[in-house]
Amino acid sequence: MDKADDGRPDALGRYGKLCVVDDTQISDDLTRVLFTTEQIAGRMIELAAEIDRDYAGKDLLLVGVLNGAVMVMADLSRALTMHCKMDWMAVTSYGSGTQSSGVVRILKDLSTDITGVHVLVVEDIIDTGLTLSYLVSNLLSRGPASLKIMTAFRKPEAEQNAVEVAYVGFDIPNEFVVGYGLDYDGRYRNLTSVGALSPHVYS
Ligand code: IMP
Repeated sequence: MDKADDGRPDALGRYGKLCVVDDTQISDDLTRVLFTTEQIAGRMIELAAEIDRDYAGKDLLLVGVLNGAVMVMADLSRALTMHCKMDWMAVTSYGSGTQSSGVVRILKDLSTDITGVHVLVVEDIIDTGLTLSYLVSNLLSRGPASLKIMTAFRKPEAEQNAVEVAYVGFDIPNEFVVGYGLDYDGRYRNLTSVGALSPHVYS
């Protein structure tokens, strides 16, 4: 990525040429790049505009699902023109492999009471939708004023899931992807673009 090192941050808040992990640095680990840094940033801005419109005049709580949604949350929330609050949950559904275990465990719960609150869950990716189904029923049992879902990426299998997703960044093929918060075995989260992980990395 060609970025001038003039000591000032660019539109994405990045400083300098050398502090960005882009796909050119890990091209051997990827089969291809699905979305560039700029495409993702543009889509987050579009979704934020929709959310601004839909929640006008309401108090909004964004609930980020750790760890993957950190980047989405940071970009989406800063693209909103309305005020919002943020809280976080940490759940686990995958071990260190690339297949869903189907088992969801809460590692960190919300710090706030969401009774009567307009909640928008901010997800990184929906694959089978198992994690999301669990989260939705768990959060609905707490009596929010409304509950909607936003996800940066969605795989085809999620369509079969009964949970409605209000805001989708990108529908993607059924491949294991990394970057923009998405990891494989804890790595690649700080890759600024999103790419399909090469099988040689996990086989
Ligand atoms: P689901 O329960 O199958 O929808 O899986 C959701 C969770 O699995 C996400 O929040 C991610 O942590 C992880 N996940 C699913 N697909 C991918 C992927 O392609 N790359 C990285 N993580 C993934």
